[in-house]
Amino acid sequence: MSAFIATANPGFAPYAMEELRRRFPGIALSGLAPGETFRVQHDEYSQEELVRRLRADEPIFLRHVFPVKEEVAMPNSPEETASALARFAASRSAEAKGAAVAVQVRKSQDSPFPFSSAEGRDLMTPALQAAGAETVARDARWILSVYATKKSIYFGWSAPRDNLSDWPGGAVRFRREEGLISRAAFKLLEAEKTFGLPLNRFSNALDLGAAPGGWSSVLLERGVRVTAVDPAVMHPSLVGHPMLRHLRQNAAELSFAPGSFDLLVCDMSWDPHHTCRIVSQLAPALSAGASGLITLKLMYRKPLQTIADLLEDYREAFDVRRVKQLFHNRDEVTLWVRR
Ligand SMILES: C[S@@+](CC[C@H](N)C(=O)[O-])C[C@H]1O[C@@H](n2cnc3c(N)ncnc32)[C@H](O)[C@@H]1O
Repeated sequence: MSAFIATANPGFAPYAMEELRRRFPGIALSGLAPGETFRVQHDEYSQEELVRRLRADEPIFLRHVFPVKEEVAMPNSPEETASALARFAASRSAEAKGAAVAVQVRKSQDSPFPFSSAEGRDLMTPALQAAGAETVARDARWILSVYATKKSIYFGWSAPRDNLSDWPGGAVRFRREEGLISRAAFKLLEAEKTFGLPLNRFSNALDLGAAPGGWSSVLLERGVRVTAVDPAVMHPSLVGHPMLRHLRQNAAELSFAPGSFDLLVCDMSWDPHHTCRIVSQLAPALSAGASGLITLKLMYRKPLQTIADLLEDYREAFDVRRVKQLFHNRDEVTLWVRR
């Protein structure tokens, strides 16, 4: 029997659950924080086997998981809770020895857990340090996870890659870089990390629906030449940038010489089927092996069906590499394709 705590973007847990049910018939799922966090139990696969299968083909809406190593009933007092935390940390001392360990403490809204994330972490740190571990926020060898609900505290211990994200609950935080033009830029930064696709490897990008220029500015910072397409104006800080060409046009009415770009990015808040037609029409403008990063807006009732239909259409012009709901995606997912 293996158990996990799983997290999706708010409101999207039902779709992550549906993906898991389709893949693992007989899997048991129960909600912990409505729409967002749930418990997974599989009676056949070990934790290692389930994680291996999840990592090999990541569910679109599953943002984060951690394996439950221990579950304790919610203690009655802060003192007892503190000792439960310290006890679990001490129980991992053999693996913690000499390793960098990140402690990630979260709780559901209805949980009586009496500590903040930082307080919970501080209560576990002495036991880890006594075992010779260094506690870190990032680049850990191990992640010690705590998730407190109304009735229980779940403890996990895992390698960061097995959590699908090394951020607590998959909530990716970027430092608000100076001069960041729009929050939309975070989506591109997160796609770059999640898909392992360093943007500085590209030289010529086509940015569809570019205004006010968050994505364009990230690409320009990476040294990529950008053709930005949008009838709307770009942010004043980008106007006149020597690597930027802005075409104030409708993307549906454009064409370019074959092989003009090695990257296409598209973040038009638009009907995803319409976006697919525009992007596919422009596919010949991409060189062989070029990548496309496209936001797919989920404006219909059945997101999984919508995505399946869209992927079928994208496959006519592209090789589909990944589709994932990123932390910075709201009612949308991000698609990575190759020409
Ligand atoms: C969500 S915003 C893009 C934000 C941008 N990625 C950023 O980082 O600043 C969507 C943009 O798509 C543009 N857009 C919508 N339909 C378009 C079309 N057919 N052709 C070009 N741009 C379009 C809108 O004008 C709008 O500026």
